[in-house]
Amino acid sequence: MEKTSRISGFHKMGLEERLKIVQSFSDLKEEELRTLTKEGALNFETANRMIENVIGTIQLPIGIAMNFLINGKEYLIPMAIEEPSVVAAASNAARFARSGGGFFVTNTGPVMIAQIQLVHLSDAHATRMALFERKEEILELANAQDPMLVSLGGGARDVEIRVLNTPLGDMVIIHLIVDTRDAMGANAVNTMAEALAPFIEEWTGGRVYLRILSNLAEKRLVRVRTKITKEAMGGEDIVDGIVYAQTFAEADPYRAATHNKGIMNGVIAVVIATGNDTRAIEAGAHTYAARSGQYGPLTTWEKDGEGNLVGTLELPMAVGLVGGATKVNPVSQVAVKILGVKSAVELGEVIGAVGLAQNLAALRVLATEGVQRGHMSLHAKNIAVMAGATGALIEEVAKRLVEEKKVRVDRAKEILEELKKK
Ligand code: MEV
Repeated sequence: MEKTSRISGFHKMGLEERLKIVQSFSDLKEEELRTLTKEGALNFETANRMIENVIGTIQLPIGIAMNFLINGKEYLIPMAIEEPSVVAAASNAARFARSGGGFFVTNTGPVMIAQIQLVHLSDAHATRMALFERKEEILELANAQDPMLVSLGGGARDVEIRVLNTPLGDMVIIHLIVDTRDAMGANAVNTMAEALAPFIEEWTGGRVYLRILSNLAEKRLVRVRTKITKEAMGGEDIVDGIVYAQTFAEADPYRAATHNKGIMNGVIAVVIATGNDTRAIEAGAHTYAARSGQYGPLTTWEKDGEGNLVGTLELPMAVGLVGGATKVNPVSQVAVKILGVKSAVELGEVIGAVGLAQNLAALRVLATEGVQRGHMSLHAKNIAVMAGATGALIEEVAKRLVEEKKVRVDRAKEILEELKKK
């Protein structure tokens, strides 16, 4: 029989039934099914409530980044990531940053933007003004959607309205500015925007299409600063190298993309560990990096009057502690406890500091020995395991592979044989 992916009712099936279907479609062995269904801290039942059509969970290593001093407070930072070197690099950079007192971070509050798109208007500019006249009414209607948020001190705060001149005519874009407190806030602001739409249509005679948050969360910024003494950096030449790397990223989007990827290595690892939405953070960061019209680096690196290195990072940080997967995934709850953060903005501040540290670590290595030596020694360990090494032999084989600059499985097997004979 022809294979088909058109299987009705998959979502209503239990785990066993779903697995049978996937097994026969993809010819899975029993062992592979066991791998899929091996339960970790996130059990099937919980996972099945988080998303649709669940057949298993996937695990990632969680490593702790050490040495972080942020606004005078000590943090251990859980990072969930598949890439070697990231956790060690963040810890190293955080150690250097202690030479200047660690990281100093502020934020602009947990403030999200919801967009409402209004079209079919002949007088968009007058409509814009008429909507401003109803600002208080708009805020009241929005806040009536979420009395809980209001009782916690959050809620809709302001209204911003623009006219966009588009190929389909003028559009009036209404921004509802909402303080979402400890929630990432997507649900809260989307509910408000959807509730407002019929009123806006009635008042203006226009037609509302989209009602959704903006991931360019430019009112929810985290701002980080750090200083590393030239001694801690290993000399003024390294400071200069980092300033050159910065200038390269400012002049060239090809480099800026990689520069920012390094920042996101740190940022996203903490976002995953704490159960937050990685795509929201990526979308916000990269759009913010392009806000001038040219995509550029999210950080700055300069040399101060004494030759020390000073760095900054500014980026949107829409993360929450309540209302999302953070509270559902038991591992995320423990990650939040390890961090010891008391609010969503504090979590955002920590993530910002990790981003700046990660960038510093990358630029320091790039401006000096290059990334391959570090990567290769970790890679060599994996190759040693693939060749069959166990226990102490892993280190020994890996060391030889790196010394010989032949990090390959065939060579690893030869070395392993030699060592075993000994
Ligand atoms: C690798 O994951 C990240 C780096 O490429 C970042 C950078 O180039 O700045 C090392």
